[in-house]
Amino acid sequence: MTEKPIESIFSLSALDPEARQDPHPRLQALRSATRAYRDDAAKVWMLTRFEDVRATVNDRSMLRHPSHAEEGSISRRLADDMDPDAPRQESILFMDEPDHSRVRLPLAKAFYNRISRMSDTLEDIVDAVIDAAPRQGTFDLMADIAIPVPILVIARILGVENDRVSDFRAWSEAVILSLNPLRTEAETALMEWGGAQLDTYFTDLIAARRDHPEDDLISDMVALQGRGDAQLSDAELRVNLQALLIGGNLTTTDLIGNGVWLLLTHPDQLAALKRDPDLARPAVEEILRYDSPVAVTSRILPEDRVHAGCPMKHRQSVWVSLHAANRDRAKYEAPDTFDIRREQVGHVAFGGGSHICIGAPLARIEARRVFARLFQHYPEMQLVDQDLNWRTLPFFRGLETLMVRV
Ligand code: HEM
Repeated sequence: MTEKPIESIFSLSALDPEARQDPHPRLQALRSATRAYRDDAAKVWMLTRFEDVRATVNDRSMLRHPSHAEEGSISRRLADDMDPDAPRQESILFMDEPDHSRVRLPLAKAFYNRISRMSDTLEDIVDAVIDAAPRQGTFDLMADIAIPVPILVIARILGVENDRVSDFRAWSEAVILSLNPLRTEAETALMEWGGAQLDTYFTDLIAARRDHPEDDLISDMVALQGRGDAQLSDAELRVNLQALLIGGNLTTTDLIGNGVWLLLTHPDQLAALKRDPDLARPAVEEILRYDSPVAVTSRILPEDRVHAGCPMKHRQSVWVSLHAANRDRAKYEAPDTFDIRREQVGHVAFGGGSHICIGAPLARIEARRVFARLFQHYPEMQLVDQDLNWRTLPFFRGLETLMVRV
């Protein structure tokens, strides 16, 4: 064993002021020092090397539900905190087989059909958000573009009525507070209010679409249920529609925010994108690799075994650093260089295996459109002098605000 390169896994997260600014120096030190780092207080393993991270997320024998994790592990605490009746338990994020496939497969099929049929409409929504932002002066790119894009897109996919979109946006922004363990009491109250409103709204919408189908994902899912092609309850449907909301909003917001910040701080890359908006496609992959919105994901060992070269025990939790893997020198040439024309060799920003991000195709549609349009619409966009405020949400990476001048 080598000397402990870090104090705890939290010193790699946005809770730590230094890691919040830039987690990579510590991640790189950890990756070089050891293949599998054990945090005895948090009771989790942390892997940082690309091949180990990829093998872990792709390993379908691993478990996901926090109740499988050993006593005292921070992964387990999620389950201990769960109200046994809370709907979150039925989200695909934490489901194991056979329930995970039962719920995810029909949902994914309906979701992918819908986004491919609606891709022009979704791009029009992105364009409308960009067109509605201020034409001149200074504005907050997060508030005016990065936050509304994913919320308005998912609202359209799900079938939220036009006159409820602003309510839906307020509820969605409230439930996203559930990701923040440091939220204040007032924020917790707001989050609970948003969750209750969304529950009622989805319950009513599911019933309404069962009676009168429309051209939206909820109608698609209700039709699959009706034909017996989707074996899931209304409660599971409701929770997983919310999982699309919660999983997709902040992450896509951060992909847009992090990408704009990266491009504005790398003028040569920005100039290349302005000359050739088709570079938006590889640029999105490079932003995901270089500064991805989600820092970690995790799995739980189903038995004692040697994993990542280390003897590990049944029920131990294995966290994988997507950030560290995406900058691994063994995988990428010059990994700390942001290069939108990099020959694409893949990344793990969306995880992998059976739990791979279900929203990846949608996030890509939205972000590609933003990066193809934004700097054509605002060729003079530049950063305003500001202290950057990276969010304190542990294991996510995104900006609170990003002030730009156009
Ligand atoms: C840039 C944007 C996004 C990033 C970086 C991201 C990242 C991730 C990651 C790392 C996971 C865990 C995968 C694993 O453990 O292997 C995940 C899962 C998930 N994501 Fe995303 N995501 C993004 C956008 C979205 C969108 C747009 C949606 C929905 C509309 C979404 C919904 C979900 C859901 C429901 C899961 C759980 C899937 C499962 O466990 O089966 N995400 N995402």
